Amino acid sequence: MENIPQHIGFIMDGNGRWAKKRVMPRNFGHNQGAAVFKKTINWCRELGVKCATFYAFSTENWRRPPDEIKGIMDLLRRYLKDIRASADENIRIIILGDIMTFDKDIQDELIDIMQTSKNNTGFIVGIALNYGGRAEICNAARTLAVKCSQKEITPDDITEELIGEYLYTSEMPPLDLVIRPSGEQRLSNFLIWQAAYAEFIFMDVLWPDFTKNDLEYAIREYAGRNRRFGGI
Ligand code: IPE
Ligand code: IPE
Ligand code: MG
Repeated sequence: MENIPQHIGFIMDGNGRWAKKRVMPRNFGHNQGAAVFKKTINWCRELGVKCATFYAFSTENWRRPPDEIKGIMDLLRRYLKDIRASADENIRIIILGDIMTFDKDIQDELIDIMQTSKNNTGFIVGIALNYGGRAEICNAARTLAVKCSQKEITPDDITEELIGEYLYTSEMPPLDLVIRPSGEQRLSNFLIWQAAYAEFIFMDVLWPDFTKNDLEYAIREYAGRNRRFGGI
């Protein structure tokens, strides 16, 4: 296939509805969703994608009931082991988001995974955890404001490229495609800067039911689109 997207963003949505349909607790859906996350990494690699970023927990998801949040954190702890195994398969892991709000053991593990996988070149997995696009842009603005006040740069130095260097995605290829299953048609604060010229594919499947076929469908659909970037 030609025209393979280099970087796909996945909004892993629909876990709760998937569990509800089975009269199971929401965390059962999150467990199933985590298994699909792992499989999707392999499908992306097989199909020639270079980088995939997964929205796992948003800055707004703290609004959920404490038992659901606890379930997600326990799941994260268990998955960190799996993630570490991926780091051994020449996969670089980049965490997007403010991880300082997580328990210390999770923070340490995440920092360690990022550092030990730093030089891996086979594939990049981004995991958005306590991530919000507005918070990301706000942090970049604050850092650049400090640099201005310390006279390291002048306001004229602030370009789109410079802001891009202060985003979590600075070492990733440009975002080509955003896939959101679950039927919702919104970004929910995911990669809002990076998605300025990305293609969007919204699918009715719930994330725990997402298959390799769904991914192939989305990539084929993407390949047939005409990206003009404002030109003709
Ligand atoms: C997405 O699934 C996972 C997280 C936000 C952590 P949801 O939990 O939002 O599932 P629905 O949208 O309620 O079905
Ligand atoms: C977006 O899903 C966040 C993640 C998938 C992690 P939500 O379920 O939180 O989004 P909304 O609330 O439907 O916009
Ligand atoms: Mg949801």
